[in-house]
Amino acid sequence: MQVSMTVNGKEVSADVEPRMLLVHFLRDELHMTGTHWGCDTSNCGACVVTVDGEPVKSCTMLAAMAAGHEIGTVEGLEVDGQLDPVQEGFMQCHGLQCGFCTPGMMLTAKALLERNPDPDEDTIREAISGQICRCTGYTTIVRSVQWAAAHPKGSEIGSSS
Ligand code: FES
Ligand code: FES
Repeated sequence: MQVSMTVNGKEVSADVEPRMLLVHFLRDELHMTGTHWGCDTSNCGACVVTVDGEPVKSCTMLAAMAAGHEIGTVEGLEVDGQLDPVQEGFMQCHGLQCGFCTPGMMLTAKALLERNPDPDEDTIREAISGQICRCTGYTTIVRSVQWAAAHPKGSEIGSSS
């Protein structure tokens, strides 16, 4: 079946099997491998993207269900060579080690900051509670999101604070 959607602001379309999951559509049809595929059981959260601005595990959704919607992936965070504040935050605060969970964590952080620009620690921890990181212990991820909240787009970022 033919499915069309917007991915990071661009219209895309492909002929896919009706059973194809969104995560495989992104990775195998569009070759956007920044969205990771970890467990296939809806547990790890490595596959999180945004659908109309809300974080969604892309292994829980068929590509056909995403038709007509706006999908955001990690590849869309950097714009015109400028890192998104969440990317900058993860870099400044060492919010990753192996990086496997990182694209999904950053998409969840971005969606959170868009609806709540100044979340407290509990709110951040709740937002990422459906996602597993086996490396960081989560503390630096929380700090990374707090850094991004304190340095929104358009503010002076990139200083070594
Ligand atoms: Fe989707 Fe693990 S691959 S939750
Ligand atoms: Fe390795 Fe999170 S940085 S799983």
